[in-house]
Amino acid sequence: MTDPSVDKEQRLEWFRKAKLGMFVHWGCYSVAGRGEQLLNRDMMPFDEYAPLADEFKPDREWAPKLARHARQMGAKYVALTTRHHDGYCLFDTATHDFNAVKTGPGRDLIKEFADAVRAEGMKVGFYYSVHTWRWHGFWDPEGYPDELPKMVDEMHAQLEELMSNYGKIDVLWYDCSNVPGSRPPGSFGYRESRIEMDNAKFWRSAEINARIRELQPHILINNRSGLPEDFGTPEQSIKLDGEPDRAWELCQTLNYAPNWGYLHASQADKSFGEVVYNMISAVRLGGNFLFNVGPDGEGHIVGNQLKVLEQLGRWMDAYGEAVYDTAPTGIYEGAGQGPSYHYGMLTCKGSTAYMTLFYYPPNPLVISRIGPGIRSAQILATGKELSIEPMRNARWKISGLPAVPPEPTPPVIKIEFEAPPHLLKYSGAKWLDGEYVC
Ligand code: GLC
Repeated sequence: MTDPSVDKEQRLEWFRKAKLGMFVHWGCYSVAGRGEQLLNRDMMPFDEYAPLADEFKPDREWAPKLARHARQMGAKYVALTTRHHDGYCLFDTATHDFNAVKTGPGRDLIKEFADAVRAEGMKVGFYYSVHTWRWHGFWDPEGYPDELPKMVDEMHAQLEELMSNYGKIDVLWYDCSNVPGSRPPGSFGYRESRIEMDNAKFWRSAEINARIRELQPHILINNRSGLPEDFGTPEQSIKLDGEPDRAWELCQTLNYAPNWGYLHASQADKSFGEVVYNMISAVRLGGNFLFNVGPDGEGHIVGNQLKVLEQLGRWMDAYGEAVYDTAPTGIYEGAGQGPSYHYGMLTCKGSTAYMTLFYYPPNPLVISRIGPGIRSAQILATGKELSIEPMRNARWKISGLPAVPPEPTPPVIKIEFEAPPHLLKYSGAKWLDGEYVC
């Protein structure tokens, strides 16, 4: 059989340019406001948990509203939890009745999601948890061996449904393909009796992924089915895997708690400056940023999440060109700090660099250890030209910054270099005498 999938780099083209996506953790757990893992974390007997699915009554307009928020935030794609570890399916499935059509919502929420996201011109992503906690055999494979093939068949059947019934799907975002008896991160409450098998082998990931590529030849598949597939997914903080050309995406929550689903009264959220800092940290190194929201039980994004999301939208409106379609040019080596890091971080598009200022200096701004020469600089939001002047040690003085940081903040300075900027490496002590020449 010939491989029906489209060439990998061709498939990845939009993703590498997109840079910003929205991640949505939403399910019957959202009714409770205790994150997405309360079944396990609160050790709820399943019959105590299941009624949440009947209380789950999404607003009729949740999907168009969510899609609008995502577009206004500047997202180019949105990935929603079609099923999380609790096994509750937001889609219509023939495999079991613990799904949105047969419980509270009474309708197929994934259809509504896919239609709404496409209508706003964004790409559609499906998150899918490979393991689910509903099976006794997941916790105790020795005690319930007959359930092991059933849970794999269920996963294959549900993916077949997801990939056949909702039109073109752009991203499949797998999560947690742990083998039964192993301890997924953040979970607890059972003894280690992991079955001795590789994750991908147990879930027959190669087989289902090949089938998925047959059904969706353009799809991008992440690395969490036990196979590397198309892109990496560092979570909450950047971890580079040593493969510089491989696509990757940092996924991150607004809160500092390990919760992705809706939280009643979160007390430790990141500031807006931190959110932009984290996004630029990923983008400057060639990664994407998948910003997570947890809508409430009705499907609304509320409180501080909504505030930050709207702030991000205003920021992206002003500075989107510093984010979309940028690519590293060699200023940064690995995830370390890099030159002029005490002011901010640079994202690049050819010879143009964008310095997002996380510290706003008194005049002037000094660019050091980056070559070649600078041609011009301006404040991106206003277009105000700044004056530039070469200094000793191959530095550049950029002056004319207003005393107060220009809105929206953190501000971005657009700098035109003579060629794609790169890192200048110093050795020796000559720079102490101002005699460094590159
Ligand atoms: C963690 C969380 C899980 C969440 C995932 C997103 O693994 O435990 O609930 O869905 O991160 O990457």
